[in-house]
Order: sequence, then structure tokens, then C-alpha cells
Amino acid sequence: MEIIEIRTRTTEGLGTLSFLESKKDIPFEIKRIYYTYNVDEGLQRGGHAHKNLIQLLFCPYGSIEVTIDNGFSKEKIILDSPNKGLIIENGIWRNMIWKMKNSVLCVAASEYYNEQDYIRDYDEFLKYVKEGYWNNENKI
Ligand code: TYD
Repeated sequence: MEIIEIRTRTTEGLGTLSFLESKKDIPFEIKRIYYTYNVDEGLQRGGHAHKNLIQLLFCPYGSIEVTIDNGFSKEKIILDSPNKGLIIENGIWRNMIWKMKNSVLCVAASEYYNEQDYIRDYDEFLKYVKEGYWNNENKI
């Protein structure tokens, strides 16, 4: 997990622009971008880990609490500023709670969508962790 400050320029009287570039600001090439919106306050999404995928999460509008869990310990990060980014490596269980209605969660991802890359069962996730799955370079 890494929290990054997304590069930002404010033009006087004209607002603010934030930007990031593949491999310069984040440690991977972006293959996919997706975003989640129309979510009511208090709702929770996520509830899965990825075998290979690395992601950058950011919230350009609103406030979203992300809990990340490596199978041993959990950490909470609040994405409440458009210039705050959270990099989540593979092998991390995550949940996101919408602290404000209509907050927007944007994700830049290192891989194309692949349902086979998801681990959606928490016990299965813990089994992978216990077996040292993410320390094995020949894992897939
Ligand atoms: P999911 O990743 O489970 O969302 P969240 O983590 O926010 O709860 O995805 C929700 C649905 O969207 C699921 O049916 C898979 C589908 N989906 C795609 O088809 N393409 C994508 O790039 C993503 C991220 C999800």
C-alpha cells in the first residue's frame, strides 16, 4: 500500500487540475480505467482481493473510506481529497465505504478486466495468504 499525492496545478480564478502519468507517478502501465458512482452514503463495495492486479484508487469528488487487509492486519485510509491516491498491490483484501452520497471512486488498473483474477471468498483469501501465495514468483 502506498498513499501518493497526485500532481496538481491551480490556475488563479480558474480552478484546479490534477494529473498522473503511467510509470512516472504510479509503478505500472495503465491498461484500464473504471469509476464507480451513484452510490448512496453508507454503502459498502469491494469485498475481494486480486491475484495479480495492481490499482491506483482516487476520489475526485466526495469521501470514501478504504479498508485494506493483508490477511494479518487491517488499515483504514480515507480518500477525501481529489489529489490523494492509494496504490493497492495484488494480494490485498479491500472494502470501500461511501462516507458521502455520490462520491466518485476512480481506479487505474494494471490489467484488463478478468474475473479469474478475483478472490471473492475471504476464507479462500486467507488460505492463499497462509500458503505464501504472494511470495511465490511462479504463482499463476
Ligand atoms: P466489482 O469489481 O465487484 O465492483 P466493486 O469492487 O466496486 O464492488 O465489479 C462490479 C461488477 O462490474 C462485476 O459484475 C464485474 C463488473 N466489472 C466489469 O465488467 N469490468 C470491470 O472493469 C470491473 C472493475 C468490473
